[in-house]
Amino acid sequence: STDWKLPDHQKIAKNKVVGVVVLDGWGEYKDDQYNCIHTAETPFMDSLKKNAPNRWRLIKAHGSAVGLPTEDDMGNSEVGHNALGAGRIFAQGAKLVDFALASGKIYEGEGFKYIKECFETGTLHLIGLLSDGGVHSRLDQLQVSLILEDFDNFVCLGPLGIILCNAEYLSLFSIYLFVQLLLKGASEHGAKRIRVHILTDGRDVLDGSSVGFVETLENDLEDLRKKGVDSKIASGGGRMYVTMDRYENDWDVVKRGWDAQVLGQAPYKFKSAVEAVKKLRAEPNANDQYLPPFVIVDENDKAVGPIVDGDAVVTINFRADRMVMMAKALEYENFDAFDRVRFPKIHYAGMLQYDGELKLPSHYLVSPPEIDRTSGEYLVKNGIRTFACSETVKFGHVTFFWNGNRSGYFNSELEEYVEIPSDVGITFNQEPKMKAVEIGEKAKEAILSGRFDQIRVNIPNGDMVGHTGDIEATRVACKAADEAVKMIIDAIEQVGGIYVITADHGNAEDMVKRNKAGDPLLDKNGKIQILTSHTLQPVPIAIGGPGLAPNIRFRQDLAGGGLANVAATVINLHGFEAPKDYEPSLIEVTDS
Ligand code: 3PG
Ligand code: CO
Repeated sequence: STDWKLPDHQKIAKNKVVGVVVLDGWGEYKDDQYNCIHTAETPFMDSLKKNAPNRWRLIKAHGSAVGLPTEDDMGNSEVGHNALGAGRIFAQGAKLVDFALASGKIYEGEGFKYIKECFETGTLHLIGLLSDGGVHSRLDQLQVSLILEDFDNFVCLGPLGIILCNAEYLSLFSIYLFVQLLLKGASEHGAKRIRVHILTDGRDVLDGSSVGFVETLENDLEDLRKKGVDSKIASGGGRMYVTMDRYENDWDVVKRGWDAQVLGQAPYKFKSAVEAVKKLRAEPNANDQYLPPFVIVDENDKAVGPIVDGDAVVTINFRADRMVMMAKALEYENFDAFDRVRFPKIHYAGMLQYDGELKLPSHYLVSPPEIDRTSGEYLVKNGIRTFACSETVKFGHVTFFWNGNRSGYFNSELEEYVEIPSDVGITFNQEPKMKAVEIGEKAKEAILSGRFDQIRVNIPNGDMVGHTGDIEATRVACKAADEAVKMIIDAIEQVGGIYVITADHGNAEDMVKRNKAGDPLLDKNGKIQILTSHTLQPVPIAIGGPGLAPNIRFRQDLAGGGLANVAATVINLHGFEAPKDYEPSLIEVTDS
């Protein structure tokens, strides 16, 4: 059992208020016109960098530093906040699914067996984000989950049955591997019918890339059909408009998905998904993120794949936040968020279990990372009164993700989490200031109240507006974020506290797709390609405030430090030694 008592820090005093600010989507990149943080007025953040060289540095926020499969994987808020809160690097969903697929373990699990029970007479439905963004899902994992092939061809299994191939080979290869079981399953256990419900991306990948992903999937399904498996895309829609809402911001998003996927009803009907995506994209102002819902119909105009009694359903996203709501709709008998009209009796499994506390969904193909003993839990158990706040679209980031994918309080007497309702039904370039001021005000109030030892906030602007690809609006967003940080730090100054300002991953600091040399890549019309996604850039971290003793500064010997080093740093600033197995603290206390 865990010893929760943290030893006192030998050199750092207790009882200072610590403000922890996470600027979402705020990386560090060279100064050029597509760096919205650079081109925006951000005097406060600029001053930190300029004025306190020993108290400002960069840390890694992507790839292996946050538990992702490769160094080509950009950071994201889930893995970023997990690392920030947990102080250690856990293999994340993307990686766990890769392992489970490569080793074949996925088919031995309870979740797959449960799904398989429907193969005899029902249809297997796969619902999820269709791209290779690697944030919520990956196309190659879906592909592998589709195809039945001859297993004997594979010779590149490593010692533990883990495939030792590069990513490109893996996706080719995985096409055969997974469905080996899911569809060898298919032939042996009778799964003769598959329906895929796609959500187009354009947010973790370039806008417009949806067409290529749908074509790739159609080819895979064609191969399957040749093998006698009746397999089709059944419905679709843009991820931000259909299904993938989060933190209960707007249930209408999930309802639109439900109507198309389960009821087979949508405002648009097409004979093929490629046609659907091409036509809907051609509408004025259309983009992949916000495509309206559509269903695929047969020659009699009948939807080809509604979900009905006796079917199996897998939500293929490994990331939790944007699947929890759909999981509730698919699983909960008692449910009143919207009228489901029909609640089919299905066997439902998530790619992962999305919420360990709610045990949701109760069936899943791959076990999620077990992120235990987070800094939040340690601190609360050592008496640190904690306040956390953001607006809805990022609320779970500083609570659920920060606490190791756990919802709720560790100790409701010592903690208060405040959610500021996000605007609903807009894209955030329309309101780029979002709720930055409101978050700043709530944090300020909490700091001045004297009721809390840690005040933790996420300021979403750089990320949420950066994802729209609107450069002008992203500048406004960055300015607003800078002003909110300033408000919070002013309050910290007033109470003699300490601040830690950092970010979870890059986004607003680079808004254009570049070649390896870092120059903007032009498309065939000679136009730049706007980057709506996150980046591979490091993020800044700054410490300061009147409560920070003058002899505390960043260590010089941790060049490779990343987000996971922040938890020990924050624990130290509260006057405690961090748990031994945490990634080392970024700070040192010098003698002078
Ligand atoms: C999203 O879900 O909005 C994006 O895919 C990732 O953004 P986030 O990791 O910053 O939440
Ligand atoms: Co983001």
